[in-house]
Amino acid sequence: MKVLCLNGPNLNRLGKREKEAYGTFTLEELETELMDFSAGNGIELSCLQSNHEGELIDWIHQAADDGTDAIVLNAGAYTHTSVAIRDAIASIQIPVIEVHISNVYKREEFRRHSHIAPVAAGQITGFGKDVYKLALHALLLTQSKG
Ligand code: DQA
Repeated sequence: MKVLCLNGPNLNRLGKREKEAYGTFTLEELETELMDFSAGNGIELSCLQSNHEGELIDWIHQAADDGTDAIVLNAGAYTHTSVAIRDAIASIQIPVIEVHISNVYKREEFRRHSHIAPVAAGQITGFGKDVYKLALHALLLTQSKG
């Protein structure tokens, strides 16, 4: 199974930004952990991060056309603002799992609305960096039921 882990704006600042919300791990540490987990579970994982909406959209389109089976997406603040990312997900057939490190429902009101949730296969929020691994588990479970 080929999976793309896509991180949006400011997630390159993990380990430095708002540690009380996002923890102390860096994006590099997170990606290494996910690559190790994937290698042991038959997942061919690629990880990408961008602070630019259009670049995220291009990668979503590309994944749909290059044989990728699923996307794990933390769109960061674009979750709450981007109709364009929502439309990109709606334009593809492969499942997208929306993840958030913090529990967005426990935070500011503006984080409680996701443009992505209605077009995502599912949403995992609030379990720290484990949300990414939980999303990969969900894909493995779906695949084994398949
Ligand atoms: C986030 C939550 C968003 O509200 C925020 O803008 C982020 C990170 C999370 O992973 O908890 O950048 O997606």
